[in-house]
Amino acid sequence: MLDIQNSLAHPLVIRREDYTPPEWLVPETKLAFDLDPSTTRVTATLSVQRNGDHAAPLRLDGAGQKPLSVTVDGVAINDWRIAGEQLVIPLAGAAHVVETQVEIAPDRNTQLMGLYASGGNLCTQCEAEGFRRITYFPDRPDVLSVYSVRMTADKKHFPVLLANGDPVEQGDSDDGRHWATWHDPFPKPSYLFALVAGDLAVNRSSFTTMSGREVSLGIWVREADLPKTDHALKALELAMAWDETTYGREYDLDVFNIVAVDDFNFGAMENKGLNIFNSRYILADPDTATDYDYDAIAAVVAHEYFHNWSGNRITCRDWFQLSLKEGFTVYRDQGFSADQGSRAVKRIEDVRGLRASQFPEDSGPLAHPVRPESYQEISNFYTATIYNKGAELIRMMAAILGPQGFRAGTDLYFDRYDGTAATCEDFVTSMEEGGKVDLTQFRLWYSQAGTPRVSASLSHEGDRATLRLAQQVPATPGQPVKSPMVLPLRVKLFGAESGAALTDERLVLFDDTLDTIEFEGLTERPVLSINRGFSAPVVVESDRTAADLAFLSAHDDDPFARYEAMQQLMLDTLVASAGGHADHEAVIAAVANTLANTDLDLAFVAEAVLLPSESFIGDQMAVVDPDAIFRAREALRRDLGTRLEAQWRQAYAGGEGQPYAYTPEGKGLRRLRTVALGYIAASGATDAADLAFAQFDLADNMTDRMGALTTLVSSESEICTTALDIFYSQYCDNPLVLDKWFQAQAQSSRDDTGAIVAGLAEHADFTLTNPNRARSLIGAFGANQRAFNTADGSGYRFLADQLIALDRLNPQTAAKLLPPLGRWRRFDAARAGLMRAELERIVRTPGLSKDVFEQASKSLE
Ligand code: PHE
Ligand code: ZN
Repeated sequence: MLDIQNSLAHPLVIRREDYTPPEWLVPETKLAFDLDPSTTRVTATLSVQRNGDHAAPLRLDGAGQKPLSVTVDGVAINDWRIAGEQLVIPLAGAAHVVETQVEIAPDRNTQLMGLYASGGNLCTQCEAEGFRRITYFPDRPDVLSVYSVRMTADKKHFPVLLANGDPVEQGDSDDGRHWATWHDPFPKPSYLFALVAGDLAVNRSSFTTMSGREVSLGIWVREADLPKTDHALKALELAMAWDETTYGREYDLDVFNIVAVDDFNFGAMENKGLNIFNSRYILADPDTATDYDYDAIAAVVAHEYFHNWSGNRITCRDWFQLSLKEGFTVYRDQGFSADQGSRAVKRIEDVRGLRASQFPEDSGPLAHPVRPESYQEISNFYTATIYNKGAELIRMMAAILGPQGFRAGTDLYFDRYDGTAATCEDFVTSMEEGGKVDLTQFRLWYSQAGTPRVSASLSHEGDRATLRLAQQVPATPGQPVKSPMVLPLRVKLFGAESGAALTDERLVLFDDTLDTIEFEGLTERPVLSINRGFSAPVVVESDRTAADLAFLSAHDDDPFARYEAMQQLMLDTLVASAGGHADHEAVIAAVANTLANTDLDLAFVAEAVLLPSESFIGDQMAVVDPDAIFRAREALRRDLGTRLEAQWRQAYAGGEGQPYAYTPEGKGLRRLRTVALGYIAASGATDAADLAFAQFDLADNMTDRMGALTTLVSSESEICTTALDIFYSQYCDNPLVLDKWFQAQAQSSRDDTGAIVAGLAEHADFTLTNPNRARSLIGAFGANQRAFNTADGSGYRFLADQLIALDRLNPQTAAKLLPPLGRWRRFDAARAGLMRAELERIVRTPGLSKDVFEQASKSLE
């Protein structure tokens, strides 16, 4: 057992069941900022109102600062006290005006929470609990207030002053400073507060909403980056139009501003009328951003915009309801992206992401329900479960309700809860009423963690078939026993001889431990297609043979199901061959077939022929053997490369000489080209390195350049070093591109990746102060299954060292690097021991943040 001599040994646990409404409300907030990077003075004037019949004092959250002065109704008082980090002010009446003054130091804020400096500009990040680092306030999402903000700053260094809502007034002071006031008429929780002061240029356009309102749109960046903002601006316009046609949601202020900053803990933030973005989700041009970056930019711009309704107009009552806004908004951004390109490819990418990040979380020590019951540090709950599994829950409800019922449900939800802080329960109730369905049992998806496992077996006699289903929801921390859940499974049968559909697609609502489904009128032996479109986020185990899976990969009429059949076939093959039984024939034939099918779109082909990742293969095994998995996967890659060499070369040549265009066709060509290059290299062809280098050298876009570089980086050839050096000298001034240079090397399959990564951590351009840079090296390394899990434990030690160093600067980002160490139960005893030793070392580190403490201590349990 752990024996922790640490004040954090008994951390404060916040529980959902303890929720009580706020004792005081703050209908109006006036903030005055005297901005300066080293000392910023904040004056907060709060109109407070007693909420209910009680005698409790006003309690304001704070963190790190001390009040310089406190006044009540204009009179200075000194009977306030500090309890923990709260400022407690005794108040006699039902309503008062309370004013506090504090001083904060943005340029010493390395946590990037609250008001901080990035690239010479000042900006804020308040979700979840950053506002209390700016001023004293009831920093909880159910206290909604109307904000007026006045900012004063040096005009030369901070010519641009932005805040939430609409601009009201601005002017010069005579000391070289200037000021601006902004007003946001929509009551909002403190986590949506934002301001920016800086030397920024703007790319503007305007949007006319469906009711004819003219909105001025602006994307603010440093002057030199202005040419890289057109894609994001276009995406914003598309998102605004899409939300009107798809959900009937219209924008509500006169301006919508986005600011890009280089130092940011997450992707972006939906502050009302003033979104603040990690610059990686704004800046793009063909020379510096990949197709993947372009897609991600559009998705994140849309996501933050969609929050204006799902998050801002309707916010969360408490942080246990986080998925209310995040799950729904991810679902909305996924729908938007699907409508911009290929629906099937988008679904494949989303499911791959779910399997790469959420499934491991759901089966590990940090597993938690979509609506958690408790937390120590809320920042740790911005997880794939809250976001991506949360989105799958909405998707399942949409499937159960059908398109009209779902729209009726969302209309009702937006209408009924507008202007309030709502709960997940409120959302589900709206779905029930709008869609006229009973979701009583479905609610288990919010409270039970763990990925359900379904076993499916189809038997056939004469013209009838029986599908036998069984479900099991695995135990997770704190939840040893589970009840059966509602699993919406799209099912269809195909004829093994003709390849034709034998039935229509059925939506089976499988809601018991066991069930049987009957099919009649079958004219030939049926093959089962199940969980089509990944209609439920579950693991399906079926008794389908390699021949059945190969058949479905060629004949299923749902592209996702075709992909899925191929994945299953590849997985079965790889798991068997990691165990010493290699038979590659079925996979080779199925891949050949897919490559030969000219009806398929190229992006789909590229996805379908890609082997499952090493970690996903590991997830299928009782004990993960990273070296055996790597060898099995490389052997299959080599066989596929050699046996289908002519087809790969043909696919590769198909993309040659095409001028760059960011279109679905262009993306498909480039994607398949790089996948083909990877297989040509895997075949051991002598010209592979030259081919890759030529692609690297001649590319007129970053997608082809990175595709070639990632191929080269896993080779031991001299050319690899040359390419890395060229890339570095070309892009060392562009931090986002340099991140790719670090990341590619951390993802390499070379034997010496651990040593290379350790060397890169000493590189002059490596820094832990920038979260993107830290993630590009340390995060990518932790996700590289073989390199991270070398038997000597050096990868574990390296990660722990970096994490401890980063925790002193930025606990939130440090805690995000921890999960790979928590996977110790999945490995052999020797590795598990080494991983636990590092977790224990982390937990015992003096001065550890509660962010890292929570993740590390839970990972040891
Ligand atoms: N709310 C942001 C989003 O998902 C994410 C975020 C959380 C950003 C916390 C910063 C801090 O859109
Ligand atoms: Zn979000």
